Amino acid sequence: MHRSHTCGELRISDINKTVTLSGWLQKSRDLGGMTFIDLRDRYGITQLAFNMESNAALCEQARKCGREYVLKVSGNVIERSSKNTNLPTGEIEIEVTAFEVLNEAQTPPFTIEDNTDGGDDLRMKYRYLDIRRTPVRNNLLLRHKMSQQTRVYLDAQQFTEVETPVLIKSTPEGARDFVVPSRMNQGQFYALPQSPQTFKQLLMVAGMDRYYQIVKCFRDEDLRADRQPEFTQIDCEMSFVEQEDILNMFEGLVKHLFKTVMGIDIKELPRMSYAHAAKFYGNDKPDTRFEMTFVELKSAPVETLHATSIIPAGFPVFDNAELVVGICAKGCAEYTRKQLDELTDFVKRPQIGATGLVYARVNADGTIKSSVDKFYDEATLKTWAEKFDAEPGDLMLIMAGQADKTRKALSELRLEMGTRLGLRNNNSYSCLWVTDFPLLEFNEEENRWFAMHHPFTAPKPEDIPLLETNLGAVRANAYDMVINGVEVGGGSIRIFNKDLQAKMFNILGFTAEEAQAQFGFLMNAFEYGAPPHGGIAFGFDRLCSLFGGENSIRDFIAFPKNNSGRDVMIDAPSEIDTKQKKELGL
Ligand code: AMO
Repeated sequence: MHRSHTCGELRISDINKTVTLSGWLQKSRDLGGMTFIDLRDRYGITQLAFNMESNAALCEQARKCGREYVLKVSGNVIERSSKNTNLPTGEIEIEVTAFEVLNEAQTPPFTIEDNTDGGDDLRMKYRYLDIRRTPVRNNLLLRHKMSQQTRVYLDAQQFTEVETPVLIKSTPEGARDFVVPSRMNQGQFYALPQSPQTFKQLLMVAGMDRYYQIVKCFRDEDLRADRQPEFTQIDCEMSFVEQEDILNMFEGLVKHLFKTVMGIDIKELPRMSYAHAAKFYGNDKPDTRFEMTFVELKSAPVETLHATSIIPAGFPVFDNAELVVGICAKGCAEYTRKQLDELTDFVKRPQIGATGLVYARVNADGTIKSSVDKFYDEATLKTWAEKFDAEPGDLMLIMAGQADKTRKALSELRLEMGTRLGLRNNNSYSCLWVTDFPLLEFNEEENRWFAMHHPFTAPKPEDIPLLETNLGAVRANAYDMVINGVEVGGGSIRIFNKDLQAKMFNILGFTAEEAQAQFGFLMNAFEYGAPPHGGIAFGFDRLCSLFGGENSIRDFIAFPKNNSGRDVMIDAPSEIDTKQKKELGL
């Protein structure tokens, strides 16, 4: 028998029991007469005590063991003289009577502690050691709990889990595909699915009514903290539903997860239109943990028909700008010149690309001091302060330029200020739905329209006539769930009519032949009685990292890729040998 108990289990009530434990040597302390070892397994840490006087041989043997040795010990549970209140097992220790080294270990390349000295690359190379660390292990346990509870909820709602294929057909829409050469069909390639989108729609045509799958998806795109080339979705689809049904069903899922996994009650999710999010947060995934919404001093004419402005002419940057917009940073009027320069440098970084930042401080006595004092009088600045709701002690930060670019840049500044002011606490949650996305977006470089969500998304019925007249104004029956500024899920009501689907492909620049060749299987299926349907997919890794209070999804994936898409542990991707290439016809 390797163990009678785990290393996290024994308490004061177990005193006098004879037990056997197995685990890894976390730490040992040699105090002359006594040697102590912390023995660790998945469940916790238990202190082992070796007494030089009563059993010198055993004590000597224990002293020879290094970190991460695999040990098996037997002994008696005794009360500790100096208790450790930080440890659930901290009131007891094991007086060891038998001791066996099950395996030796090399000194690990980094410390296996909560705060490790290992850098990212080293941790990934020895991920099996990294997972021995409590924070990483806890993330995987959290992930397990989340997938269990997802299944509990969806099963109770009559969803059936169906597996869809991983070797599928490459399609031109969306991100880049990962492709797999076919040996049996030389010169031809499978693609790995970016999502099971078309299959889940076919399952609706097949009458499965409610489908879900916790499923790996693959996208060959640039990587960031919240993006991996292979990631997991909670992918769902429902028949005979409208948008409202879907929002309610999946609001239910997220509430269930918060309740069962975190013990948190989430209120009804607010809804915000895409247009509102863009205007007031500069972003389609607003972080609503804090306000600091945008205030426009000069609105872009396209939106209001007539440009509205409370800025007199004089400052060329503002005069020539399509949009002048800002935020009010509460209590920041005292920012030093250095801090303001830092913010200016922040927005001027190439990733953000703004040309500058205007500031105006509302002093304690109500006077206003700005970086554009030579262009505007105090009375003008006061009208701005009123519009910003800026009080004495507040700082107005203002940007100007082309509308979309300026909003994007100000959105980054808003998030930066939120972080600086401690308004983005990872232990508080602000969830919402963003709805009414545009159906299409125009790509200047390729000079054509792209589907903003995907080509199967239905336009809002009332906007269908606009497909003939004003493509940019057509809104989609599409929605995203956003938590703390992270897009955790997105979906839509689908087109289920063959003609509308064909029209959509046409708008996206497919000829009828191309559409048939790429998506004929779906359009043909629509000829056999497709029900109205819609769905959503959650980014499961993102949901887990949010629940775990972290921004990066990497530590919620057992074996993730690095930012260059490499698995540095198994060294993939790698060359394949000539024989293998030849077999594949490459
Ligand atoms: P979408 O492309 O919006 O929709 O993806 C759904 C969710 O998946 C997550 N996600 C990612 N997570 C980690 N790494 C990535 N590279 C990555 N890409 C996306 C996001 C996103 O919200 N088939 C549709 C869903 C539908 O319409 O039902 C789809 O895949 O959290």
